Amino acid sequence: MVMLQRFVFKRLRLFYSGNQEITKSLLTIFPAALLDGHRAAGHRAKSSLPDFKERTLIAVKPDGVQRHLVGQIIQRFEQRGFKLVGLKMLQVSEDLLSQHYCELRSKPFYPQLLHYMTSGPVVVMVWEGFKVVNTSRMMVGHTNPAEAKAGTVRGDFSFHISRNVVHASDSLEGAQREIQLWFENKELLTWDCCDQKLTCEEE
Ligand code: TYD
Repeated sequence: MVMLQRFVFKRLRLFYSGNQEITKSLLTIFPAALLDGHRAAGHRAKSSLPDFKERTLIAVKPDGVQRHLVGQIIQRFEQRGFKLVGLKMLQVSEDLLSQHYCELRSKPFYPQLLHYMTSGPVVVMVWEGFKVVNTSRMMVGHTNPAEAKAGTVRGDFSFHISRNVVHASDSLEGAQREIQLWFENKELLTWDCCDQKLTCEEE
């Protein structure tokens, strides 16, 4: 009911937005709580705007490319409603990879990881959307596919940690660092997707 009232109020306000007197009288008719609700919604829209612009880096690793999984992985992010803003295929250099995995250089598995990640092309992407970093991690699943849930990328397409098909940034800061590392600004597009109004409420 309150939603309906807000909707009617918004429409009336838009309709009379050219006439300040009528708008003022409308403001006196509508209950304060409703107006507060409207203001809160306006505030929410402003403060949450960056969430909708959140970006993350997803990479299909060499095993995923070799196994023809690129399309299926892209499809999962598309059908979830996220927006693709960058995409390319490349043969990764050891230098780029050592920067990407800088925190893992001392790990015993690092040499094998380096070898595997440079063994063939990868497809790297930037996806944009509400809470995309966390949601992508959930969609990708546990680092170790043996523990990844069915329905996740790793849980559906792999069984061993040494070949886990896909990379997803693990935090907002990590995503920003990785996107800058893998992409130049000019390779990332800002564009309006026509389904934007269908995937979340527009305030
Ligand atoms: P990590 O950053 O810990 O995981 P994630 O990819 O889920 O963010 O590790 C990077 C990659 O290193 C991981 O995807 C697969 C590989 N790896 C191993 O081969 N063996 C291991 O024991 C671990 C922890 C990771």
